[in-house]
Amino acid sequence: MNYDKRMREMVLYEIWPKSFNDTTGNGVGDLKGITEKLPYLKELGVTHIWLAPIFTSPMVDSGYDMADYKEINPLFGTMSDFEEMVETANSLNIGILLDVAVNHSSSEHWWFKKALEGDDKYMDYYIFKDAKPDGSLPTNWESRLGGPTWEYVESLDKYYFHIYAPEQPDLNWQNETLREALADVFVFWIKKGVAGFRLDVINHIAKDIWEDAPNGRGADYYTNRPKVHDYVKFVSEKVRAVNPEAIMIGQLKWTPPEELTRYTNPNNKELSAGLDFAQVQAIDHDFWKWDFKEKDFSKYYEVIKEYQEYLQHSGGSMVLGWNCHDLPRAVSRFLNDEEYLFESASVLFGTLTSMIGPVLINYGDEYGQVSPKYEELDQYRDVESLNFYRDDLKKTQSHDETIKKLIMMSRDNARAPFLWNSNSDDNYGFTNGIKPWIDFHKRSKEVNLESDLQRGNKSIFKFYKDAINFRKDNEILVHGDIEFLNFDNGMFTIRRWKDDGEYIIIANLSEVPKENNNLDLNGYKKVFGNYENDDKNLINKYEFIIYEKQ
Ligand code: GLC
Repeated sequence: MNYDKRMREMVLYEIWPKSFNDTTGNGVGDLKGITEKLPYLKELGVTHIWLAPIFTSPMVDSGYDMADYKEINPLFGTMSDFEEMVETANSLNIGILLDVAVNHSSSEHWWFKKALEGDDKYMDYYIFKDAKPDGSLPTNWESRLGGPTWEYVESLDKYYFHIYAPEQPDLNWQNETLREALADVFVFWIKKGVAGFRLDVINHIAKDIWEDAPNGRGADYYTNRPKVHDYVKFVSEKVRAVNPEAIMIGQLKWTPPEELTRYTNPNNKELSAGLDFAQVQAIDHDFWKWDFKEKDFSKYYEVIKEYQEYLQHSGGSMVLGWNCHDLPRAVSRFLNDEEYLFESASVLFGTLTSMIGPVLINYGDEYGQVSPKYEELDQYRDVESLNFYRDDLKKTQSHDETIKKLIMMSRDNARAPFLWNSNSDDNYGFTNGIKPWIDFHKRSKEVNLESDLQRGNKSIFKFYKDAINFRKDNEILVHGDIEFLNFDNGMFTIRRWKDDGEYIIIANLSEVPKENNNLDLNGYKKVFGNYENDDKNLINKYEFIIYEKQ
């Protein structure tokens, strides 16, 4: 079977540039700050960095609203800072993947400004529609960041379409001139030496049906439409003509394993891997994240089992992660980040390194970064959170009720600054300015990199490094087959094997120790884990263990 080996070996690290390391004192992280910390990431074992948006942008949606696809946002530095960062990364053998959003641009992009002036050429770069004959919106779809997907332009007497915020008008991929212009963007950056890209919501770029949806859920009408594969192939070909090794990781929302394979099997020359968090979302909600419910890890198990067991033989690849810039930190959301931070963080990462990769780390996960759970509205920065607050308050009429939902689910939970040391007078090494662009989390003195490193065998960083090293060049974990044996009340068991080697892997995601009475581990020896003891009949709370067949 043909599959992209590099995907299984990859340790991918997402950096939220605003929150990683500030060298100018303005409270916002920057590219020089990233360059400075590359040796640190090398030590951790990172092979690739997913760099969240750094292009010129009004930052309505943190840079996922791009106003110029070929310029560095001055907030983060200059083109020469960028070049220095790429060069340093390449010299350390760390590949940089740039996050590019081409489903939509910013409404500040000059293309869109021309469109608003009524210039036909540029109007066709976007999606403009008339109201329905009865005067209502062209469709009833709700946008992903709050409100309807249509915005009225009086001077044109038309609506334009936006899946996300009104400041993020969707681009019209049916237009060939536009497709060329976008492919040119990717080629521009690959020529600058980046290893590849993370393509934002790329499976939404093809749209061909404009009808009302039951429940206003338009996603079914713009996800994985037939033409999307041609468009993705078109861009990939242009990029790979410059660098045949280029890596294209596509965000593929709501994409079943068969379809994901179509995108990511190397024979199809589309993407290198898909990225989605369906398995994580499934734990506490269905479609709308704000309608969350009690956590249920058996849902995680069901989804991940389906994808992993299918993809191992289909040649497809899917990034494995618990966290990214859109998700509250999993240690805080699902486990016990107060009493058992080490155990919680390590069992979560252990599960990732024991499945078929790439493995994804969100910056700061490696010292147990927790969700800040901001309690005041003015601490929130994310457009989605602020729009949600506005809309939900109308329904609940209760600040307390609505803010509780933000505390649980806001994307700002993922975006707080990285804490390099434990010194609050030094702003924890993040900035030497007065204060950061968004508040530090509340337990900063205790949960930061420096304090973590002092915890010896209970250092989360040390566990991450050891787990990465254990996995590196480990044929069974990286390239072996996988079978999900069972899920029992918060604990799951997997089998991995290759040639004569075999592992049984156990992860207890619950706080209840378990008697292991249904597994015969005779003839197996513990080779890795997050507890020092070795009792085959008792699995501790949040324990992660790898047994090797002797
Ligand atoms: C993706 C990004 C998210 C962003 C959206 C619109 O889902 O991960 O942060 O808001 O696309 O670009």
